[in-house]
Formats: sequence, C-alpha cells, structure tokens
Amino acid sequence: MKFKILFLVFSLWTAIPLSSQVLFPSPQIYSLEKGIFNITTATKIKGNSTYAIQLADKLSGQLRGLSASDSSHNIILLKLLSNSTSNTGEGYSLDVKGDTVLLEATSEAGLFYAKEALLQLACFGKGKIRYCHIQDTPRYQWRGFMLDESRHFFGKEKVKQYLDIMASLRLNVFHWHLTDEPGWRIEIKKYPKLTQIGAIGNWHDPKAAPKFYTQEDIKEIVAYATERHIMIIPEIDMPGHATAACKAYPEYSSGGEGRWKDFAFNPGNIKTYQFISDVLDEVAQLFPSPYIHIGGDEVHYGNQSWYTDTEIQDFIKKQGLTDEKELEYYFLRQVASIVSSKGKTMIGWDEIVDAGIAPDKAVVMWWRHDKESQLVKALEQGYRVILTPRRPMYADFIQFASHKVGRQWNGYNTIENVYNFPTLIMHLTKGYESQILGMQMSLWTERVADEKRLDFMTFPRLIALSEAAWVFEKNKECSLFMQHLPVFLKYLDSLGVYYFNPLDPKSIEEPQSPEKEDVIQNG
Ligand code: ACM
Repeated sequence: MKFKILFLVFSLWTAIPLSSQVLFPSPQIYSLEKGIFNITTATKIKGNSTYAIQLADKLSGQLRGLSASDSSHNIILLKLLSNSTSNTGEGYSLDVKGDTVLLEATSEAGLFYAKEALLQLACFGKGKIRYCHIQDTPRYQWRGFMLDESRHFFGKEKVKQYLDIMASLRLNVFHWHLTDEPGWRIEIKKYPKLTQIGAIGNWHDPKAAPKFYTQEDIKEIVAYATERHIMIIPEIDMPGHATAACKAYPEYSSGGEGRWKDFAFNPGNIKTYQFISDVLDEVAQLFPSPYIHIGGDEVHYGNQSWYTDTEIQDFIKKQGLTDEKELEYYFLRQVASIVSSKGKTMIGWDEIVDAGIAPDKAVVMWWRHDKESQLVKALEQGYRVILTPRRPMYADFIQFASHKVGRQWNGYNTIENVYNFPTLIMHLTKGYESQILGMQMSLWTERVADEKRLDFMTFPRLIALSEAAWVFEKNKECSLFMQHLPVFLKYLDSLGVYYFNPLDPKSIEEPQSPEKEDVIQNG
C-alpha cells in the first residue's frame, strides 16, 4: 500500500514515467525519493573486492549503450560486505542518492542480484534512475524453471538466452530434462550409442537428425549459468521414460510391446545398475550442483513386461520383494545409493515418496496437483520438497481460453494463477515451511516444436513465477504486477522473444504446433 502511494506521489513530479522505475521481481522494501541519477560516459563503476570488481567491469559493459555523453561525475559502487558471518543469503540493498549508487550484499549471489536490479532500472529508465532505497531478499531459496529438451531440442543459444532472462528475474535453478522417450540429449563417453542412436528423433519425427549436447557444450552452459548464479540440475529419467536409452542399449531394457516398448529399464538385471552408475559418474562430473534428478515418474505406463518376464520375476523372488511395485521401489532405493555414492543427493518426482528412501537422501518434486496427499505424505515423512504442481506450474497448459494448443485439466494456467501460487495450497504445507525449498515452473515440450512456441508458452508466465518465488506473501499484489508487466514485455521485445500478452490477448497470434489443434484434456 505504502509502495503504491509513493508511486502515485512521485509520478506527479518526475520526468521519468511512473511505469519505468519498477522491478521484476518486486523488491520487499522499496522507497522512491526526489532526484535522478544519470548514468553517463563519465560514471565510475567500482567494486571493493575481487568479485565485486569483476561484477563492476561486467556492469560497465552492460551499461555502455545506456550512458549519456556527459562529463558530470558520479559513481556506482559495488560492495561485498565481509564483516558478515554468513555469506549464503541472497539479499542485497541498493541505494541511489546524490552522485552515488551503492550496491551492497553479504554474498556474491546477493551482489549479483543487486547488479541485475540496477541493470533493470537503468534499462527501463534509459540510463536515468530515480533516487531510491531498496532492501531485498528472496522468499524461497529454490526458484526454478524446467525445460524438456528430449521431446524437442532447442540448443545452446536458446538455453543461454533463457539463462540470461532467468538471471534478470533472479531465478536460480535450471532443471534440464535431458532424457526421455523421444531423445537422449547428453553425450556420455562410455556409452556412445546413447547419442549415436538415442539422440535421433523428436516427439513429432522419430527420424529427425540426432540432436544433443556434447560434454564441451554442457561445460560451456554450466559455466554460463554459474556466472549468473544459476544452478543446473540435470535430469536422467528412470526407470520409466527411458525409451531413448533402452533403444540404444536394449540389453538394459525391460522390452515390452507396442506404444510402450522399451519405456523402462530392466530392474531385474544387475548390469543395469552398473550402466546407470557409469552414466551418473559422467553426469556428476559435468554438473557441479549437489543434486541429480533421476525422474522416477509414471513407471506404470510401460512396465507391463515386468509382470511376465521370467528374469524379472525370478529377481523379485530372489530379493524377497512382494510385487512389481516393490521392485520399482527397490530400483529407486538402489539409484538413491548410486547417486549418494557420487557425493550427490537425488531428486525425484513425487512417486519416490513411497519407495522407502531415507528423507535426508532425497528431495521430492511435487507435481501431481490432484494428489495433495502425496505432498502431505512427503512433508510428514520429513522430505524436502519443491513445488511444481501441474496446476498452475506446468507451462505446457494453455494460458488463455481461446488457445488451441496445449493441455487443460479442469481449467488451465493463467499468469495470475502462477503469480498467486502457492497461496491456495499453503494450508497443506502449514507447519512444514522449513521443508519447502521453493517452487518451479516446468515446461514439457510435446507440443512445443519450435522457439516461437517455446517463448509463447514460457512468457510472460516465467515473470509471474519469479514474483511468486521471490516476493513474500504480504508484499504480493497481482493487479499491480499486471499493471507493471508491459515494462518487462518491452524488454522481451528488445530480445526478440515472442510472448503471449494477457493485457491484449487478441494482439498476439498463438503459434501452431505440427498438430494444428491440439488441446489435451486430462482428468
Ligand atoms: C511428470 O509430469 N510426468 C513429472
């Protein structure tokens, strides 16, 4: 409320339009004062430590196009505060007053976010920034976006563009779904057929030329993300959704017939576990993140052969397991210890809650919005949880009533739904707040065959995600966010990103997918 009144008062006198001095996500404390700081070619940009100096140099380059030719002297000072005992928080402060812009934080991530905030203000205000005081810190530590590149592959440049936008929005986790039915997208040196065979095809064309990331590509993207304080979580989906791998190495497949042939690894073959361990060895080396996502979802779609295969049935008996479901959980426990042996923690979709894995050995992603009990069970058992329920956090759902391509399930996912998350489910997590790491928007790409559709499904909902994940409940106000939205949309224009405009829905054409009309009804 205070924030709104301040906006109103200052908009009456200042030359900078009201709409330009906004931030995405909105800071927790933000006051505007009288006066304007002009970024000029003479502005000095300095840092107080090795990291702060690096960041200052980066900022200099980024502000170059926005600096007015002027000799008036002023300074932007980036300060990493070393007198704090904690260097882990992501908070920052930003003060613009007189001839000084002061950015302060106790962690490198915090200082980076101060720099990103300043960059937004400078961009939106075309080099002019109103005097202000900002004190900011995120609500959740996990602010993630998942991209499925198995169904369709988008490549290094698009991923880097998204990492740039994520950094600007202070999103800090990129969950990379690299393997699934249509394609295996990560080079594994020990098993070259994973990409020679497994990378062929996509959701629409099983014969499409192989597309994958080499290990050099991955290193480059990881470095790019790390510089932007984004952690990349690789997902190697198993035991189901493993078709591409099983086609490449049928000796580890549980076979099957028809639509679901080769969908699942063979959990009754001990060599499968060695194969998985070898693959995860290389994955663990490539990604510095402490987590590896191993999927674990929807095994029942394609494990029919487990019920009839004599090798698998013998294995069930030998291990003293009661049935095929127990075998699935056995597999997940084995994989949890493989991941643990690489010094990493496993993340899995919410099916893993029933597998009997020690709660400190796994993190759960809650995705089945229609199974609230699974979220509650995960929390009661002591798991840390990331919230990405299909409604409203799956971006493959349509976002407007007249849209024709995408999913629906008793409705669809509007930008307002994303912004307002997790208010409607907070009664489920009450008392377990410390176990909620954060939230994520997840984009499956069955119906996202090109960049235009990718952008259209992602934006502007990703902006709302950053608000939902960053801004404390008491500071959220959807109508104000919607009012400010055009400022970020203009920035997306400058990047050539295609997006849906919820403020003028008819102005933007919905890009088609190869299946022209393709609304998928669930539930
Ligand atoms: C999922 O959507 N199958 C995790």
